[in-house]
Amino acid sequence: MSFCIAIDGPAAAGKGTISKAVAAHFDFAHLDTGLLYRAVGAKTFEGFSPIEAAMALTADDLERDDLRSGDAGQAASRVAAIPEVRAALVDFQQAFARREGGAVLDGRDIGTVICPDAEVKLYVTASDEVRAERRQKELAGKGETVSVEEVLADLRERDERDAARATAPLKPAEDATVIDTTEMTIDEAVAKVIALIEARRA
Ligand code: DC
Repeated sequence: MSFCIAIDGPAAAGKGTISKAVAAHFDFAHLDTGLLYRAVGAKTFEGFSPIEAAMALTADDLERDDLRSGDAGQAASRVAAIPEVRAALVDFQQAFARREGGAVLDGRDIGTVICPDAEVKLYVTASDEVRAERRQKELAGKGETVSVEEVLADLRERDERDAARATAPLKPAEDATVIDTTEMTIDEAVAKVIALIEARRA
């Protein structure tokens, strides 16, 4: 049986951490769809056009070490505004969403476009400042020194572009449950989301 959990929201809201924890809890597969766009963005650094890169994407492209960088994030946000790039990635995501045994997908358009009939739809968000602080700490933990201000500017630029685009913009699905994690620890957010899904499955 398939069961799709769609988790959308702006950059660095905690979607990734929550999605991984939820997938582990329910023994569901997890797809970080941002990685697809990051991999397409990273391929454009090598001279591919965005559409070529999206059509030729392979599993190996998702294993690159540089996908988490700020540059790959910005490139992802830019290529993600191109309708043909999005179209090239739809079938893979929809097949993943409906695989046997359940799936968690996190991104920007999962509840609105990829899996509009998802059994659970969440929109995870937090204030810009809290998101920037969390991302800055995460980067510092990996040895990357950037200021909170720089991270904040980067997040805002991406969110504005992602929300303003004509195709599959960042926005909550009408029937999504909005979870604002500004005042929560990540553990509290995970517990809340798991409780909500358990209630929905019961
Ligand atoms: O989730 P992330 O920060 O890794 O995503 C990187 C960019 O990819 C994001 O700024 C917008 C784009 N993206 C998208 O347009 N649709 C998705 N489902 C996931 C990501």
